[in-house]
Amino acid sequence: MTPLIIDTDPGIDDAFAIALAAGSPEVDLLAVTTVFGNVALSNTTSNALRLLELCGRSDVPVAAGADRPLVHPTPHRASEVHGNDGLSGAADTLPLASHDVDGRHAVELMADLLRAATEPVTIAPIGPMTNVALLLAVHPELKPKIGRIVAMGGSAKGGNTTAAAEFNVWSDPEAAHRVLAEEDVPTVLVPLDLTHRCAVGAGRLDRLAAGGAVGRGLTTLTPSYRATYQRQLGLDGMVLHDAIALAEAISPGILRTESCPVEVDCSHGPGRGATIVDRRRNSPSPRRRVEVAFDADVDDLSEFVLSRIVS
Ligand code: BDR
Ligand code: CA
Repeated sequence: MTPLIIDTDPGIDDAFAIALAAGSPEVDLLAVTTVFGNVALSNTTSNALRLLELCGRSDVPVAAGADRPLVHPTPHRASEVHGNDGLSGAADTLPLASHDVDGRHAVELMADLLRAATEPVTIAPIGPMTNVALLLAVHPELKPKIGRIVAMGGSAKGGNTTAAAEFNVWSDPEAAHRVLAEEDVPTVLVPLDLTHRCAVGAGRLDRLAAGGAVGRGLTTLTPSYRATYQRQLGLDGMVLHDAIALAEAISPGILRTESCPVEVDCSHGPGRGATIVDRRRNSPSPRRRVEVAFDADVDDLSEFVLSRIVS
């Protein structure tokens, strides 16, 4: 079993990602750490606790991390997509958490788990990369304990939050630049180019809802999220973003990647938060390379995600 830490801002697609990991025998879910992002840190933390309760995983510790970006305050959240509470206004329909948040800062919980790990740990950031940038900055000696970072974020085709920037990277470009361009931990980046192709239609969601309490709980969260995607991007179905990154964290190689140098625009112009992915075969860039997931068998992938969310 691969030891796994999810760093997240739940978030409806984050909820699917957590449930996928909770139901996957290939991984040992060591912790869920939370970050500001789709909504405020207090909401993302209580949502993480409730989601783990829904999944029957109150054994998994939850620790709260950064409540703002490293450098510049975020001008707005994604509540138009995820609702004011991060879960379509339906967070209260999920079971109350039976466990308390861990007293440690997310970065210190991650550090303690890495120190104790006997096998390389996968870290899956599926929100702004602030906690992971802080971890790498404060505890560089622990980098060899990280097997891979598998992050949802970025785009080579343009953004969903601004014309140029994807939400997670745009929320803290300086943190994303540190993780993607300046550090040397093996990293897979799962951008919008792929995740926008991974949407689950009504028929499959009905099947998920019929499959048990977890599927029912998650499906209840999706109608307004789906309506927003339809209105804003013309995309039908539940776009799985974060769950696609978790599929790769759980089953390495399920996504097809290209090795590319990636930089993040940290300027204050219209490109702020854009990921500049250098897909030239013989790029002269001195930057290290990140595995960018541009392709997969998208139908199999959606099936993989949903088949794990069974109880
Ligand atoms: C990312 O932004 C968030 O709104 C989602 O949870 C996902 O992590 C997609 O751009
Ligand atoms: Ca997210």
